Amino acid sequence: MNFLRSSSALRLNTASIIKRGLASAPEAKPVNNKTFKIYRWSPDHPNEKPTLQEYKVDLNQCGPMVLDALIKIKNEQDPTLTFRRSCREGICGSCAMNIGGRNTLACLCRIDTNVSSETKIYPLPHMFVVKDLVPDLTHFYKQYKSIQPYLQRDTVPEDGKENLQSIADRKKLDGLYECILCACCSTSCPSYWWNQQEYLGPAVLMQAYRWLIDSRDQASGIRKEMLENSMSMYRCHTILNCTKTCPKGLNPGRAIAEIKKQLAFQ
Ligand code: SF4
Ligand code: SF4
Ligand code: FES
Repeated sequence: MNFLRSSSALRLNTASIIKRGLASAPEAKPVNNKTFKIYRWSPDHPNEKPTLQEYKVDLNQCGPMVLDALIKIKNEQDPTLTFRRSCREGICGSCAMNIGGRNTLACLCRIDTNVSSETKIYPLPHMFVVKDLVPDLTHFYKQYKSIQPYLQRDTVPEDGKENLQSIADRKKLDGLYECILCACCSTSCPSYWWNQQEYLGPAVLMQAYRWLIDSRDQASGIRKEMLENSMSMYRCHTILNCTKTCPKGLNPGRAIAEIKKQLAFQ
């Protein structure tokens, strides 16, 4: 009898806990749709002109960054939407694109939560397009390779093991080595748009400077020689779009000015 009474009391208690739990369950957030207009073009239909395709994303069901919205669209609405991404934390440089008129990384760019205005997304400007938001960076990487971005020495280190560097010399590389080669700066540079075949552009020139001032490197002569012509570097007219757009807060415009100074005073 006692057992029966206690088990029915337990049932009553459980029911009231469940009821209370239901009553205090958080209410679902209202739908808060944001419109994204995204550049679409496919090599499978080469004769069709590029278009802007519209997608709506409920911001209450989406992460805060533009890359979150793109991934959500691809997962839930349109698997054919094509873009590059890897690290989703501003390290790999893959997700560089033009968002709301500015070159930046989709994973570091917060969604504009004003739902009354739409956000337009294009691939990096003035580049050939592989598909949708994916630019062809083949030429950009060739240019990077051309500056020989690696340590070059004629002599072996004194201890036969390591090429040592003072703390002060190492410090000179700060603000340069952090570049992730996303190409946001180069593709925002009007000089690069107009002379891309010959002008190296801010990203590559900043890396040329990075190796030029590395105290361990012994190839500065040839490095300077490679830049000593009218096109490779002197197409930079200090417009500074590059520095303004860099999503990592770097200053390629200053690096180019420093190379010009070195060449002028050598
Ligand atoms: S300098 Fe900035 S914008 Fe240019 S490639 Fe490097 S990280 Fe990207
Ligand atoms: S400073 Fe030079 S590299 Fe940078 S945007 Fe202007 S012209 Fe291009
Ligand atoms: S996904 Fe790597 S930088 Fe954005």
